[in-house]
Amino acid sequence: MWIKKIKINNFRNYKQEEISLNENINLFYGENAQGKTNIIEAIFLGSIGKSFRTKKDKEMIRIGQENAKIEIEYQKSDREGIIKIELGNKKNIYLNGIKIKKLSELLGNINIVIFTPDDINILKGGPQNRRKFLDIMISQLKPNYMYHLNLYLKTLEQRNNYLRQIKEEKKQEDLLDIWDEKLIEHANIIYEYRNEFINKIKEKIKEIHKEITNYKEDIDIKYQTECQTKEKYLQLLKERRNIDIIKGYTTKGIHRDDFIIYINNKPIDIYGSQGQHRTAILSLKLSELNIVKEEIGEEPILLLDDFMSELDKSRIQNFLEKIKNAQVIITCTEKIKVENKKILIYNVKEGSLN
Ligand SMILES: Nc1ncnc2c1ncn2[C@@H]1O[C@H](COP(=O)(O)OP(=O)(O)O)[C@@H](O)[C@H]1O
Ligand SMILES: [Mg+2]
Repeated sequence: MWIKKIKINNFRNYKQEEISLNENINLFYGENAQGKTNIIEAIFLGSIGKSFRTKKDKEMIRIGQENAKIEIEYQKSDREGIIKIELGNKKNIYLNGIKIKKLSELLGNINIVIFTPDDINILKGGPQNRRKFLDIMISQLKPNYMYHLNLYLKTLEQRNNYLRQIKEEKKQEDLLDIWDEKLIEHANIIYEYRNEFINKIKEKIKEIHKEITNYKEDIDIKYQTECQTKEKYLQLLKERRNIDIIKGYTTKGIHRDDFIIYINNKPIDIYGSQGQHRTAILSLKLSELNIVKEEIGEEPILLLDDFMSELDKSRIQNFLEKIKNAQVIITCTEKIKVENKKILIYNVKEGSLN
């Protein structure tokens, strides 16, 4: 699939821009802090309905303005469409001119795989980074996943509020059963999806990583959860109830899930070198790319933010050759040359394009 046009209004440091893209490679180059990543962010917003940089939508509105707007025209193998998102006091999302009610209705229209310098935190950072990676990948393929995840998180917040009320206002303890029942229902669906997708990654990543490391390294991925079944999670919630009341939050659950990457049978977060982290993250992202491609039956759009800082020039050519037919949107600080491919080049300066 590919994006034909992006229109942005009062988005980050842009006033108003209309950007045409081509089906192959699109390069946005310029110095730091000019607005390159903001373009990637606008596309991400059109795909996932949120930013990858901030939880606060308001931050994306141009300073001094009340509203921002993005519009993305895309082409898929079987249909074309327009997504429009308005940010202001409320977030309004339109699909082909019709306002949607649930965020999950947006998902799956524009399929992306994003590579950013922050990806390294998927392996080096805390488990929330790994959950975010899974959540972004799964929710654009299975909108139902995002639906249950949001309900789970809402229920979790309510349960946590109630835990504090038990402690502070001596509220009845057995009413917690209601929240527990709700939690395990959503958790079970989330578990099934996460398990399915971690297994898919496992299948792909072994081959990809062997190729990248010239058969020197063996990689593996393992899902870490304590909520494999409803019964198990319910039992856990019961066992932890007293601790949860004392702490005032739910100490165990699907919101604590994690996965571990092993290189030659050793956990990478403990034993991995800098270089191993870099290759492992590339293998992980390429596995994601393959999975998305298989699931949607066409090429997702590749967003490569600050690509040069991670790979040298010959590796870029190599990487792009592997990509073949996907639309690629690259940001970097220098103009790059790409052979055998159509490339559209924009210079980004102070929130305008040339
Ligand atoms: N809400 C906003 N309103 C106006 N300018 C913003 C807003 N958010 C970020 N910026 C500006 O955008 C620029 C950073 O854009 P970014 O795309 O991250 O840069 P880069 O070209 O390095 O990728 C900075 O100059 C920053 O001040
Ligand atoms: Mg940037």
